[in-house]
Amino acid sequence: MSVYLNNAATTWPKPACVAEAMAAFLSRGGANLARGSSSERDMGTLNSVLDCRMRLAAFFNGYEGRDPRYVTFCANVTEALNIVLRGFLKPGMKVLTSSMEHNAVMRPLRRLEKDGVVVTLIRSHRDGLMDMEDLKDKLSKNSFDLMVMSHASNVCGTIQPLKEAALLCRDAGVPLVLDTAQTAGVLPLDVSSLELAALCFTGHKGLMGPQGIGGIVWKPDFALKVEPLVTGGTGSYSHLESQPEDLPDKFESGTPNLPGIAGLNAALEWLETTGMKTVASKEQEIGAYFLDKLKIIDGILLGGKQDMADRLPVFSINVKDMDNGILADLLSRAGFETRPGLHCAPAAHRSLGTFPEGSMRVSPGYFNTKTEIDAFLKALTDIIQES
Ligand SMILES: Cc1ncc(COP(=O)(O)O)c(C=O)c1O
Repeated sequence: MSVYLNNAATTWPKPACVAEAMAAFLSRGGANLARGSSSERDMGTLNSVLDCRMRLAAFFNGYEGRDPRYVTFCANVTEALNIVLRGFLKPGMKVLTSSMEHNAVMRPLRRLEKDGVVVTLIRSHRDGLMDMEDLKDKLSKNSFDLMVMSHASNVCGTIQPLKEAALLCRDAGVPLVLDTAQTAGVLPLDVSSLELAALCFTGHKGLMGPQGIGGIVWKPDFALKVEPLVTGGTGSYSHLESQPEDLPDKFESGTPNLPGIAGLNAALEWLETTGMKTVASKEQEIGAYFLDKLKIIDGILLGGKQDMADRLPVFSINVKDMDNGILADLLSRAGFETRPGLHCAPAAHRSLGTFPEGSMRVSPGYFNTKTEIDAFLKALTDIIQES
């Protein structure tokens, strides 16, 4: 069995309760959502979906007293961002984003740019932090319709000064959309006090759920201004041929990923019982252990922040004179799973000075041990010495 050090791609393993809840849904529940009568199985599905919606509204401190209607389910954060960006931005509108974004933000924006949306990038420093002076300057000189940013980098783990950015956007009257792919379930997130227009999340990373489930927590008045990307059957308002305006139906056409919702609900319950702080501090501890030992290996080039302050345990590494793909392959043969390349984030790599070669990303997680880290670092040292 190999050692998994690729938690920024997806956390693994998952708590056992996740697979159990999904299997229970498929074998004992399994009714569709709002598309049956009121049988026990129908009510079981209805309650399980509502329970997960309520849990998410509470987890992210949603609007209107954590009203679960303002939680939308979709496949992942990529789809969530597409729903928000493509549903809101119209030709001629101006959107601000950072130069550290994942393609989940960049590609929808570049596509919208072809339709006449104006995209402006905020510069970033070499440590991956957004240049706040540039943000202030841009906000003061232009009127933007939207800002979208990721909370933390999937390439180098740098955590952005979200509170400061949210305040600047609020004062400038610019709705802020947040990509929480790397931070949901890891850092506290409070949609209402940050006054976010939309928080987009994915279930399979820090939230510890399965792949294929994610969503949006909306500011109600912002959701009103967004056109649905997909329209169709919702199991409600069946007399209408037009899409319902009410949430959650407005953005949830077609049968949702019900086993995924059951799995995510179990994962959230696990996170609540274990304690998000406990999980995050164990991850930080293993990250600090890794970084201390990594720094003393000769020939290592670390991208982004050089210490553990304001960062997640996501490390972007290059070894002098060695292709990071070859390095990752050698490590994989030695039993260690990492991720080389550009991590779907060419703009972030440009900002960090690692484009086009990319880096090898190492992202330990909650279930890793110090013994595994020691074994990885020994394998890395051996490869460097033999090269
Ligand atoms: C910052 C960031 N945004 C978006 C995504 C896309 O996540 P998903 O594939 O779950 O939609 C990722 C995944 O790595 C990410 O790290």
